[in-house]
Amino acid sequence: MKVLVVGGGGREHALVWKIVQSPRVEAVYCAPGNAGIARHARCIPISAEDIQGLLDFAWGERIDLTVVGPEAPLVAGLVDTFEEAGLKVFGPRENAAEIEGSKALAKEIMEKYGIPTARYATFTGPAAARDYIRQHGAPCVVKADGLAAGKGVTVAMTVDEALAAVETIMEDLAFGAAGERVVIEEYLEGEEVSVLAFTDGETVVPMASAQDHKRVFDGDQGPNTGGMGAYSPAPVYTDQLHEQVIREILVPTVRGMAAEGRPYRGVLYAGLMVTKDGPKVLEYNARFGDPETQPILMRLETDLVEIIESILAGRLAGQPVRWKDEAAVCVVLASGGYPGDYQKGKVITGLDQVPAGVEVFHAGTALKDGQVVTAGGRVLGVTALGATIREAINTAYEAIKPIHFEGMHYRTDIGGKALER
Ligand code: AMP
Ligand code: GLY
Repeated sequence: MKVLVVGGGGREHALVWKIVQSPRVEAVYCAPGNAGIARHARCIPISAEDIQGLLDFAWGERIDLTVVGPEAPLVAGLVDTFEEAGLKVFGPRENAAEIEGSKALAKEIMEKYGIPTARYATFTGPAAARDYIRQHGAPCVVKADGLAAGKGVTVAMTVDEALAAVETIMEDLAFGAAGERVVIEEYLEGEEVSVLAFTDGETVVPMASAQDHKRVFDGDQGPNTGGMGAYSPAPVYTDQLHEQVIREILVPTVRGMAAEGRPYRGVLYAGLMVTKDGPKVLEYNARFGDPETQPILMRLETDLVEIIESILAGRLAGQPVRWKDEAAVCVVLASGGYPGDYQKGKVITGLDQVPAGVEVFHAGTALKDGQVVTAGGRVLGVTALGATIREAINTAYEAIKPIHFEGMHYRTDIGGKALER
């Protein structure tokens, strides 16, 4: 079969890497892809958000299966459009992807179906939001309702910071229409864990757990990023917690979405805070996480295409999903200045010296005059397997040594929390 992967980051590189290993697959295309993806797939210069362009391509090439990486095309209805055209596509429809596209909707669903989450209030105007913040005080968390490329959340330790976030979101409209509503939440303390699950709308099969590292600097310092690294499994996520998350969070979410007339099919990502009162949902994503997908797919033993086909046929219940016992760690190499402004076009060297057993997933790269150059904030995700987390950490950091580009920076403590446990 011919598969099209939509997107061009590290997550999509991991998806393509896994999909080409399937004996069912004869060709993989990726739109738009990147320099690393081009080693396994034919990259097509169509934006992940150009739904009509993607549809025309999929028709013209007789694509058998389309797998969507990023949230924007899901929330914009790519899956609905492809399905209406009779094309097989993996991901939630628009009204289900809204669980990521609107934080207010996600909170309503959680409230209605008794899913544990932070207490909250939703506002459509800045004055009421400010009154609420002054009344309730800090710390609190201020979130733009809509998609804001991971930048719409402020964890405010003071009332002034929270008020400033309301101004940025609702008055400066820094995230455009995503800021027409804000959600203000109770601040939760604990350790974060990402739990992704496959679902066909009825059966829920969780993937191996993972932990992201959102802050740019070691020790969780500095501003939030798209994610500076991840590892799997996350020791904080015990077997007991796993059972609780399935029972209290994943299953009720999928049931609730179905009851709301928003049947959910695809990957459901629950960002959780493990608090002293149990796990609580920080956010849902309607897709694979980035960079969690890189270590998670390194550990997936089963053919991903087989899993996807079972989901599309509504028979996930009978589908085995097996994981390697080994741990995996992904360290992101970022451009100088990221998550702020950064330059592109820096030549990357040392990519040919990566040892066996390590995958260097490309996040933001391009080919220029035969050389691989930087083309984004997150550039590479060096991902290694190991018998233990410690071994995977050592292998990943060893593999980074020969890699270089001007301005390159990365965290040196990815996976450290797992070692502390
Ligand atoms: P979100 O995009 O909603 O996951 O928020 C981004 C990050 O902000 C999360 O990964 C957490 O680190 C933090 N965060 C979000 N909500 C809360 C909360 N209620 N309490 C504490 N931290 C939070
Ligand atoms: N790693 C966080 C996300 O994919 O949203």
